[in-house]
Amino acid sequence: MSAIAETEQRPALIQIDKVSKTYVRNKALTYAIEDISFAVPAGEVVAIVGPSGSGKSTLLNMIAGLLRPTSGVVRYSGAPVAAVNTKVGYMTQHDTLLPWRTALANVRVALEIQAVPRKDADERARKALADVGLEAFAKHYPTQLSGGMRKRVQLARTVVYNPQTLLMDEPFGALDAILRVNLQQDFLRLLATRAEPLTVVLVTHDLEEAVTMADQVIVLSGSPARVSHVERLRGIREAALSTGVVEARRSPEFGRYLNLLWNQLHLGRDLRGAGAPELREEATR
Ligand SMILES: Nc1ncnc2c1ncn2[C@@H]1O[C@H](COP(=O)(O)OP(=O)(O)O)[C@@H](O)[C@H]1O
Ligand SMILES: [Mg+2]
Repeated sequence: MSAIAETEQRPALIQIDKVSKTYVRNKALTYAIEDISFAVPAGEVVAIVGPSGSGKSTLLNMIAGLLRPTSGVVRYSGAPVAAVNTKVGYMTQHDTLLPWRTALANVRVALEIQAVPRKDADERARKALADVGLEAFAKHYPTQLSGGMRKRVQLARTVVYNPQTLLMDEPFGALDAILRVNLQQDFLRLLATRAEPLTVVLVTHDLEEAVTMADQVIVLSGSPARVSHVERLRGIREAALSTGVVEARRSPEFGRYLNLLWNQLHLGRDLRGAGAPELREEATR
């Protein structure tokens, strides 16, 4: 696999180097991921797609420094990640807003932890809320916000302290199709307006989302997860930004990428079936 060779145009900010992770399950050691290598160049959006249970969240947790690899190394700016990685903002799969705090106070949390003075923190939190279109909802509590709005607050909270890298785990997962597209559109705009380009690792099971946003898509086959394919994309995000997400998805290039990745995902599943008797049996039933 030439994942690292393919990305040599830009320096790698994150390097996943021959990483494996085992867990103990039913008293037996099982691999969640096995011998995975890829690089995330600075300033790029790299999407990771793969079946459920293929180790996507495990990978993000290792980049965030919340989990250690069993073998191999995760490097950030060239140095092994050995503690909680303060350079990354992490938007997890779950709604982690504090119900007793307003939207503004939820966004402010990260700044309070960094002991930013209150006035300054309020100002930055307000600006971050405005960037996601929620300036009018600063005083609302999470229960008073829709699902899409809560995702926006989470996004604001993740970018408010200017992380160098954004880790996103199925960020728009539970939303309906129209809300998702709206959020994707706003997120692309947010990315484009940053003075310092954000590096993004986006985990998603939505191939359309991956193709719309990413410079590179990494396809994992599970389980244990391995990198089964790396695809470099050109022009789609730019089109989504200028003509809109919906219009960009009508283009032949978009369809071509989608097809290609869809086939790769299924290929990965077939390979897994060939190696696992219980799955092969199921397939022939
Ligand atoms: N704390 C844990 N203990 C045991 N097994 C785990 C743990 N976390 C994850 N796993 C296993 O590792 C594999 C990958 O999990 P995960 O990274 O959550 O996958 P994904 O995010 O792609 O759905 C799964 O088979 C899961 O059951
Ligand atoms: Mg997950």
